[in-house]
Amino acid sequence: MNTYAVMGASGRTGNRLAHRLLDAGHRVRVLGRSASRLDDLSSRGAELALGAADDADYLSQAFRGVDAIYALLPFDPAKPGYLATQRRQGEAMATALRVAGTKRLVFLSSLGADQASGTGMIQPMHDQEARLRTIEGLDITFLRPGDFMENQLGAVPVIRSEGIVVNALDPDLAFPMVATADVADAAFDAMTDPGWHGHLVREVLGPRDITMREVASIIGASIGRPDLPYVQVSYEAMAQALQGAGFDADSAVMTVEISRALNEKRIGSLAGRNPSQAGATPFERFAQIIAAAVAAQ
Ligand SMILES: NC(=O)c1ccc[n+]([C@@H]2O[C@H](COP(=O)([O-])OP(=O)(O)OC[C@H]3O[C@@H](n4cnc5c(N)ncnc54)[C@H](OP(=O)(O)O)[C@@H]3O)[C@@H](O)[C@H]2O)c1
Repeated sequence: MNTYAVMGASGRTGNRLAHRLLDAGHRVRVLGRSASRLDDLSSRGAELALGAADDADYLSQAFRGVDAIYALLPFDPAKPGYLATQRRQGEAMATALRVAGTKRLVFLSSLGADQASGTGMIQPMHDQEARLRTIEGLDITFLRPGDFMENQLGAVPVIRSEGIVVNALDPDLAFPMVATADVADAAFDAMTDPGWHGHLVREVLGPRDITMREVASIIGASIGRPDLPYVQVSYEAMAQALQGAGFDADSAVMTVEISRALNEKRIGSLAGRNPSQAGATPFERFAQIIAAAVAAQ
């Protein structure tokens, strides 16, 4: 039995990872800001460590004495100051890993983290990978997932109100899209495998590349509207739409920068798919979750 710490344990990847570690009989320390949002894990015996991701003292305590850590940089797109917050959290994480003497880390990064600039919201991942690589004696797996399938849940209000799927992405651009459950499972594999050392990059790509035209068609089929169209809009219009949905203005622009970088093929897989990704969630299955959200709203 090992002891693991999981950041963002009430969130999408962290919650599934923490449950899987408990299922496997390990001790798990779960990090987050709210005890009630971690009830499902504490009631199974997980140890709570409550605090904010930019508090190095708190993180140092929470990281102490565990065999491996799952870490991420949380963000709230509605809040201003994304870049400064990510930097503050990133520095706190690095300080805490040093103080705690951590030996093993799985860090949730992103495809595109190889690029130093021009990737909008992904850019802090590049900086954080570089920051973490300077910590001596720390083995790190950098998980670099593609676009989360869950992002498509943001399309639900417009599907309902206008009967279209809207984005700034080229309709025929095929890009990697992955369910967060599969990211959590990749994290589980990395956390529990003692056989790797040094600095590893593991892309988590989902079962196949997919285009927005296909996304609209698959969602359409799942909600009984087989002709659901995909409409490509300008970067400016998309940024405005995101602001209308509650995004901070800078976060909206930086989110659209990801689409621009994908369209210009500056973000993509460097390694290609490998057989371990064969069982990943297809978008056809994930679309059932979108269909339920469309029906529920
Ligand atoms: N969306 C994508 O397509 C994509 C692709 C690649 C990588 N990523 C990365 O994935 C990460 C998000 O992972 P996820 O989806 O598993 O998380 P998530 O579902 O967004 O949940 C965020 C978690 O972080 C916690 N949290 C939020 N703000 C916090 C703060 N200030 N201090 C401490 N904890 C805080 C939340 O807990 P409480 O609110 O309960 O405290 C929650 O457990 C981000 O780093 C993002 O950049 C996203």
